[in-house]
Amino acid sequence: MFTLPDFPWDRLQPYKERAAAHPGGIVDLSVGTPVDPTPERVRAALAAASDAPGYPQTYGTPVLREAVAGWLRRRLGVTGADPDAVLPVIGTKELVAWLPTLLGAGPGDQVVFPELAYPTYDVGARLAGASPVATDGLLSLGPAAPKIVWVNSPSNPTGKVLPAEHLRKVVAWARDRGAVVVSDECYLEFGWDPDAPPVSVLHPDVCGGSHEGLLALNSLSKRSNMAGYRAGVVTGDLALVRRLLEVRKHAGMIVPAPVQAAMAAAFDDDAHVDEQRERYARRRATLRAAFEGHGFRIDHSEASLYLWATRDEPCWDTVEHLAGLGVLVGPGEFYGPSGARHIRVAFTATDERVAEAAARL
Ligand SMILES: Cc1ncc(COP(=O)(O)O)c(C=O)c1O
Repeated sequence: MFTLPDFPWDRLQPYKERAAAHPGGIVDLSVGTPVDPTPERVRAALAAASDAPGYPQTYGTPVLREAVAGWLRRRLGVTGADPDAVLPVIGTKELVAWLPTLLGAGPGDQVVFPELAYPTYDVGARLAGASPVATDGLLSLGPAAPKIVWVNSPSNPTGKVLPAEHLRKVVAWARDRGAVVVSDECYLEFGWDPDAPPVSVLHPDVCGGSHEGLLALNSLSKRSNMAGYRAGVVTGDLALVRRLLEVRKHAGMIVPAPVQAAMAAAFDDDAHVDEQRERYARRRATLRAAFEGHGFRIDHSEASLYLWATRDEPCWDTVEHLAGLGVLVGPGEFYGPSGARHIRVAFTATDERVAEAAARL
């Protein structure tokens, strides 16, 4: 039987209560849940598909799969994007947690993920009974051949972007050993530094034009303010996607039909993403200046929806200090031991709350 870590966010509860007691109310910059409206065209598509008496297709409708392939080509510069190799998932957290199981990883298999990472990669390895390995240096694995290598660029929590050249080396290393590279790309459209543009693992500069041994995960939660819909996709190597589809059909892991319709509408449109980017760019600039003015150093953070900040003290001291100002942030330790002196500041709060945080700092 597997063991799971304590659910990290429960440990933040006392600080949340402290922050909520501030006379001006809490400014919650911890979890990173979107707060702006779901785009009108997405809501209209959901409503128009609400008459759904029959079972939906696990594979997703052809319209949805074509919309995703079109987005990969148009927005991410992916060559060879194949609608047959697209599979909708019930939010990408679900897939992160179950992917090692779905790919048949088990005892004795290694699942590798970054040292500082979204905690669900570790959970997914454990659910499968596989061995979680947190490392940024694949060479440290020696001759081992892991089953799965996760990459996450732009990174949660650090906002770091891995250049195409780095990703290309990871892909070559993994292909040499028969490991599957799974790239979690949910912040790909939120790059802020023209010198560090995020790139998909499926881009020809990374994969050489072949998607063999590669999977990319994309989420609509942040891109299209659809976290409440639970909507993501996995795409890449057709044989791997078919394997996932087969198991998911048996296991009942199906995205609801109205959500599939809403997803197609979201992937077909970029204007709402550009609009949302503007909002986040403004909030990021405000918070960055406020935290720096308050004595913080911001590391990485060239992309994603987070600032990775430090005052060179234990993260829980920083969390406590900010809770006293009514501002709640995530302790870096949630993402790995090397985050113990950082905090993660999400800029998914309203303009009003962001201005309030800046004023208090
Ligand atoms: C790196 C990363 N992967 C996956 C997810 C899961 O997103 P969702 O399940 O909403 O698609 C998140 C959510 O914050 C994330 O930060």
